[in-house]
Amino acid sequence: MRIFSGVQPTKNPHIGNYLGAIRNWVDLQRDFQSIFCVVDLHAITVPQDPAELAAQTREVVAAYLACGIDAERSIIFNQASVAGHAQLGWLLSCQTPLGWLNRMTQFKDKAGKNRDSVGLGLYAYPVLMAADILLYKATHVPVGEDQKQHLELARDIAGAFNRLVGVEHFPLPVPQILGQATRVMSLRDGTKKMSKSEESDLSRINLMDSADAIANKLKKAKTDPEPLPYETADLPTRPEAENLVGIMAALQNCDPQKILNQYGGKNFSEFKPALTDAMVAAIVPIGDKMRNYMADQAYIDGILVKGAHRAREIATPILAETHKLLGILQF
Ligand code: TRP
Repeated sequence: MRIFSGVQPTKNPHIGNYLGAIRNWVDLQRDFQSIFCVVDLHAITVPQDPAELAAQTREVVAAYLACGIDAERSIIFNQASVAGHAQLGWLLSCQTPLGWLNRMTQFKDKAGKNRDSVGLGLYAYPVLMAADILLYKATHVPVGEDQKQHLELARDIAGAFNRLVGVEHFPLPVPQILGQATRVMSLRDGTKKMSKSEESDLSRINLMDSADAIANKLKKAKTDPEPLPYETADLPTRPEAENLVGIMAALQNCDPQKILNQYGGKNFSEFKPALTDAMVAAIVPIGDKMRNYMADQAYIDGILVKGAHRAREIATPILAETHKLLGILQF
């Protein structure tokens, strides 16, 4: 059993990354050999500023550590340091029918009207993601709800490769969609995912936000005029209420219904301060730890060097075996 997952170093890590992903990895790393990647090659599928990309790559490492990923137990590294990701990505891209990629909703969302001018990398993104996982023959992949379709594609690609070579070379990776709030939405629009790429910083809570910034963003967070409902069944028609209740439930590690048992019938003006307190208590200590790690770049880089070394040790024989199965000589 082996786990692989990754976060993109685009803009600052936010509570969506924490509640939907990283937080759930902390428990998993005790039971599984775990590999946590900073996927810089995925980040450049859209334009990035080089100086910022490097800083943000280190920032994701700081977030991993601050959230409780143990760098001794787990492997933390950046994708570009293990050349096998790009190499296996190519091998797999040759086995991936275009029709499968045409179905990917994330590409359609991200490319929008610019379908002909965005880079090939944005289109091929899910193939590289499959390569990330299969390069380590990872069996389980903890991700947020939004990555489910990419994971299904990774399983299809693994199956296609196995059929091609006639052996069960790659295990079909199992998605693990864990915990409450696997999908944290924008504070400005409850129908859109909380995203590092959304223009307004008010739309998301970053892990390094101060208590004041958190309070201000939640105060301005979009709501509707009704009091909170008594039942979760009434939430889906009210996306902003659903999102804030979901976040509160995730922060308190409970069912959203339990939050409504307490706040049903109350106004947002009463709920928001409680949410702010819970958020500040959970996030500010993480931000403080991140700042401490960020102040010691040599420490972070040391983790990335060691992680890359350990990752290569696993990846190298798997890539060699993959080449061999295809009849590709690798000297
Ligand atoms: N696409 C993922 C995201 O945006 C990041 C990612 C890249 C990933 N490669 C991965 C996640 C492999 C899990 C496994 O969240």
